[in-house]
Amino acid sequence: MLPSRLVRLAPDAGGIQKAAELLSTGACVAFPTETVYGLGADATNDRAVAGIFEAKERPSFNPLIIHVGSLEEASRYAEFDIPARQLATAFWPGALTLVLPLKPDSGISPLVTAGGSLVAVRVPDHPVAKALMSAFGRPIAAPSANPAGRISPTTADHVAAGLGDRIAAVIDGGPTDVGVESTIVGTAPPHLLRPGGLPLETIEAALGSPLEPAPQRSSPSAPGQLASHYAPAETVRLGTKSPQAEEFMIGLGAIPGDVTLSPTGDLREAAARLFSLLHEADTSGRPIAVAPVPDSGLGRAINDRLRRAAAPRS
Ligand code: TXA
Ligand code: MG
Repeated sequence: MLPSRLVRLAPDAGGIQKAAELLSTGACVAFPTETVYGLGADATNDRAVAGIFEAKERPSFNPLIIHVGSLEEASRYAEFDIPARQLATAFWPGALTLVLPLKPDSGISPLVTAGGSLVAVRVPDHPVAKALMSAFGRPIAAPSANPAGRISPTTADHVAAGLGDRIAAVIDGGPTDVGVESTIVGTAPPHLLRPGGLPLETIEAALGSPLEPAPQRSSPSAPGQLASHYAPAETVRLGTKSPQAEEFMIGLGAIPGDVTLSPTGDLREAAARLFSLLHEADTSGRPIAVAPVPDSGLGRAINDRLRRAAAPRS
């Protein structure tokens, strides 16, 4: 059952117009991207951005990604060096977020960057997200549309279940295609901040050189770097070939389960189904076991999310 406050908008011109109007009033609206559903707000409006942190109960030191329609638009807010421009040209629109120096007088709310001098920016590749950005005309700050620390949403039902009584509306664009969040890359020199929907190997091939390891920081700058994240209510056991009787088993390839990430072991399909199956496993109320996932290509992002789902909770 959907809570009555949440307005579910159709992914058509009328729904997008309504969503853009809500954003203009400072409301939070969830919308589909090709990776996961985002919880959007006007990135230039402090009060609107504060609404995101409030709805998610997200620790305010975690900065947000701004979503824009093009590299040209992104250049109004962030400084692109040569490798950043090369990556943006190669992969935008798409599942790549770049963390870049924020331009002075960008107009972006300091809440978006957690008061820092770097801004995360991405151009999503989803018809509804694109139409929303062009109808709204300003950058949209959007984290994944889930309560802080919980499983990311890949359907409007996931959004409604997690945040239904706390946000104005969700545009229902059906299940997302990629299924894991964008890959996050910092620059000077290019380095990986979070594995994601764009494989590391693909980025390195475009750059013609390996990405540097992420610089060590004293405090995590991304919830993707917090140990426990994407947490279901029950425990999660990884790399399992034979589950205990009480466990809800998520299989892959030749290893069967109550459900499977992909019967053929296809990692693209596995990424697309990952969060949906974690939601389903969570709903079962049983402890969760997961088959081994190869640690290459999209498997890196899948294993990263699974490790965090399995990490001890604070
Ligand atoms: O695919 C995605 O990236 C989705 C869709 C909605 O675009 N968004 C998403 O947002 O995953 P979120 O907030 O769940 O994760 C964004 C990550 C966080 O780990 C955050 O800390 C990091 O990006 N981040 C944002 N701004 C940053 C900055 N200025 N410096 C370093 N990390 C930053
Ligand atoms: Mg998230």
